[in-house]
Amino acid sequence: MKITTPLSEKIGLRLPIIQAPMAGGPSTQELVAAVSAAGGLGSFGFAYMPPQEMQRQVAWVRAKTDRPFGVNVFVAELPGAIDAVSQRGALEAVAGYYAELGLPAPGPINPPYGPDLDVQLAAVEELRPRVFTTHFGSLPLEKVSSLQKLGILVGGSATCVAEAQRLESLGFDFVIAQGGEAGGHRGTYLRDPADALTGTLALTRLIVRAVKLPVVAAGGIMDGAGIAAVLALGAQAAQLGTAFLACPESGAPEVHKKMLLSSPEDETRITEKFSGRAARGLVNRFIKEMERAPSLAFPAQNAVTANLRAASAKAGKPDFVSMWAGQAAPLARALPATELVARLEAETIEAVRNLKGVLRES
Ligand SMILES: Cc1cc2nc3c(=O)[nH]c(=O)nc-3n(C[C@H](O)[C@H](O)[C@H](O)COP(=O)(O)O)c2cc1C
Repeated sequence: MKITTPLSEKIGLRLPIIQAPMAGGPSTQELVAAVSAAGGLGSFGFAYMPPQEMQRQVAWVRAKTDRPFGVNVFVAELPGAIDAVSQRGALEAVAGYYAELGLPAPGPINPPYGPDLDVQLAAVEELRPRVFTTHFGSLPLEKVSSLQKLGILVGGSATCVAEAQRLESLGFDFVIAQGGEAGGHRGTYLRDPADALTGTLALTRLIVRAVKLPVVAAGGIMDGAGIAAVLALGAQAAQLGTAFLACPESGAPEVHKKMLLSSPEDETRITEKFSGRAARGLVNRFIKEMERAPSLAFPAQNAVTANLRAASAKAGKPDFVSMWAGQAAPLARALPATELVARLEAETIEAVRNLKGVLRES
């Protein structure tokens, strides 16, 4: 038995399974190459990556496999210079944690806060991945079509119907319906993220009905039963992030992997205190204690917390690490990516068979 959809065939995949791009370390070249070689779509989360490094990692994957892979960046409006009072408030809020870990307090935070989007997009045009996706926003029509002319399929995250319709109107090739269960940053860009938390089941169905584009479902999908479920809803692929975090190829810090595998259910929460933007992660001391503390806009807040997160991860201490994870995190498995993809395939087939077994002639 084979599981394929028009979208998976168009991309050139053996399976309608996408390893979510995971910026900040988890989606390593090793993970991308392993997933793509196994028949899924490995995806780079290049949000914080300078072009030279994007080029190096893409070349590495191309030397390992000729299968398609994806590249993803954040399309976010960046703040200008941040006033001294706001900076002081945000830095004071974390000063005690820096002192606790014996770290010097971070200095003033000034732009640029990361690589320039136009420079990253120019690198994508040069690299010509089979798939390119955006998070946090859309792209102008002309940009979408210039990428498509290079043979790149362009997708984008949507957390509500209006965002999916915006992507469709801009000529995107497919939409990723990111349900409220999803780990990592909310892709919301037309609303307050707190008002865009519709669950994967409802959101996938709503978006499938609202747009003509192929829909990819994301959020809380951890196994073949979840993949079969979203295919039944009309999705043409499933995008899994948290499921791949515990793989040995994932670059998530060891303490993140450890906490993921031992986390009780219902222990994720959405916070904007790590980066300045709403993201779902495993609840830890930082998330709890910072709930009402002042913070800076995305991505400036990343600079406020960067050394704290890194030192905490290095010390194997979960207290100050941004351990992004979706609501189904307890279903994560520490399997090599090739084996995980093979299991996901077998489980999806089994889930479809089991459903057939439920049917009775009346
Ligand atoms: C650690 C982590 C990092 C993520 N980084 C990105 C990213 O850089 N770009 C993006 O489009 N989505 C990112 N996401 C969100 C995923 O694309 C996807 O929506 C999510 O993982 C689906 O939910 P799940 O984690 O329950 O599978 C990230 C998710 C996680 C868990």
